[in-house]
Amino acid sequence: MEMTEHAPEIKRMEIEVIKSAVSRVNDVDFDNIPFGKIFSDHMFVVDFLDNEWMQPTIMPYGTLEMSPAISALHYGQAIFEGMKAYKGADGIVRIFRPFDNIKRMNKSAKRMCMAQIPESLFIDGLTQLVSMDSAWVPTQDGCSLYIRPVMFATTAEIKVKTADQFKFVILTCPVGPYYPHPVKVVIEEHYSRAAEGGVGYVKAAGNYGASLYPAKLAQEKGFDQLLWTDAKDHRYIEESGTMNVMFILGDKLVTPSLEGNTILSGITRDSVLRLAKELDIEIEERRILVEEIIDGFKTGLLKEAFGTGTAATVAPIELISYDGVDYKLPPIDSNSISSVLLKTLTDIRVGKTADTHDWMHSIG
Ligand SMILES: Cc1ncc(COP(=O)(O)O)c(C=O)c1O
Repeated sequence: MEMTEHAPEIKRMEIEVIKSAVSRVNDVDFDNIPFGKIFSDHMFVVDFLDNEWMQPTIMPYGTLEMSPAISALHYGQAIFEGMKAYKGADGIVRIFRPFDNIKRMNKSAKRMCMAQIPESLFIDGLTQLVSMDSAWVPTQDGCSLYIRPVMFATTAEIKVKTADQFKFVILTCPVGPYYPHPVKVVIEEHYSRAAEGGVGYVKAAGNYGASLYPAKLAQEKGFDQLLWTDAKDHRYIEESGTMNVMFILGDKLVTPSLEGNTILSGITRDSVLRLAKELDIEIEERRILVEEIIDGFKTGLLKEAFGTGTAATVAPIELISYDGVDYKLPPIDSNSISSVLLKTLTDIRVGKTADTHDWMHSIG
């Protein structure tokens, strides 16, 4: 099947709704929410068959029946997204930059030869789903509703070829902080996450599967995450496992540029860079040599390092290990640049400060 870049029109926009008989929301301890283990009452499901999107449905969260021959399992046509909804003191639920997530999902779909998802299908499904399960959006500090859109190939055929059937599902789960403490990372000098010409710049499920073994080795040595370097020479910093990375060198914010298409173009990265610019922080998006960071530790030029991502938000890094040596960063406080950026972003997300960028998609 020829995959067009244009999302095909959908047959029926009306979403069928099958409500769960009883809500599970009262069983949840919102003061102790593990990340990604508790799912809200409903999920959104829609199939792509015969070159068309079928009837979209919101149904109780549960298992889906599928053939073990589906090509996602064998040949890895599976992509996903991650975004968050927040509930402010005003009781309004706001989703952060969902139009950017659907754009990136379709970029992933194009690279992985999968059907394009119409923006209206994505946004309508998402809006109705989050609205139905709005009681699941936590209000506790640092908590939110994590939203996981996922699409996978459902053609049941054992043959390496482009699938022509797909399932698109949206799940949601209330979450607390991904990293409840500052992060310890190790610079990866042997394994690679992505190479030029590959799929590092999209959210293909296989990127994450392939990163698990090197990440496990790092975790066994006491690190939370890896800091990936370029696949060619391991000389340039790329990103971390689930977040982009930024450094405060002197009074500049320095972050790896997106050129070369090996790192994910993070929506949090983009937001933080825009907020930093508005705070008159000088920004450099460029290639960053590992040596430059290590020298920064030695000369004191490196003031802060932090990750940015939907799950991780703005996550301070307290330690970077390289070539067997652990380099500790100075402790951060509420005046640190990462703390100021996190607060600025959080205040927009929960409606405490004006959304001048038009980032928030309010529900209901
Ligand atoms: C590999 C990787 N890099 C960066 C990010 C940050 O992207 P975003 O800010 O859009 O969540 C993520 C998380 O989605 C990720 O998985």
